[in-house]
Amino acid sequence: MSKTVPKATPTIREFETKSAAGTIAIGRKLADLLKPPRLLILRGDLGAGKTTLVKGIACALGAADPDEVTSPTFTLIHEYAGTESGQPDGRPIKLLHLDLYRLDAERQLDSLGLDDLQTEDALILIEWGEKFKSIRNRADGEISVTATGGDTRRITLTLK
Ligand SMILES: Nc1ncnc2c1ncn2[C@@H]1O[C@H](COP(=O)(O)OP(=O)(O)O)[C@@H](O)[C@H]1O
Ligand SMILES: [Mg+2]
Repeated sequence: MSKTVPKATPTIREFETKSAAGTIAIGRKLADLLKPPRLLILRGDLGAGKTTLVKGIACALGAADPDEVTSPTFTLIHEYAGTESGQPDGRPIKLLHLDLYRLDAERQLDSLGLDDLQTEDALILIEWGEKFKSIRNRADGEISVTATGGDTRRITLTLK
C-alpha cells in the first residue's frame, strides 16, 4: 500500500528587516534567486513594503535606481530593462512590475496581455496578483511581506 505524502511547497528563504533600506537590501539579495522566466505574486497589505522590495530587485539587475521605481498602481505595469546580476554583458532581463490593486474582475486582465509578457527573459512581479485565479495559476512562486510591528517586516520567498 502506498501512502500519499502531501507535497510541501518548499520555502526557499525567509528574512527580517527593520527599515525600508533593509528591505531594499533584501530585494538585492533575492534578485539572484529569481532567474527568468518567472512570474511571482508579491503578497502583503497596503504599505507592507512590496514596492520597496522591487526597488532592490531592480537595482540588483541594473534596471533602475531605487528612486526610479515607483508604484504602478495607476499605470498597472512598469517595465525596466536589466541584465543578470546587473552585469553590462550579462543576459538581458526584462523586469515587469505590476500592481493590480485597482482591478477586480478577471476580464480586466485581458488588456494586460499576460501571455505576451511571459517571455523567456521576463521576471514578472505582481502586487495583488493573488486576487485573480488566472494569476495564481500562472505564478511559480510568491514573495510575501508582512509587518511584524513598527518598521519590522518579515519577507518570505516561496518558489514552486
Ligand atoms: N522595513 C520596511 N520595509 C519596507 N518599507 C518600510 C519598512 N519600514 C517602513 N517602511 C515604509 O513603508 C512603506 C512601504 O511602502 P510600499 O513599498 O509602497 O508598500 P506596498 O507596495 O506594499 O504598498 C514606505 O513608506 C516605507 O518607507
Ligand atoms: Mg506597492
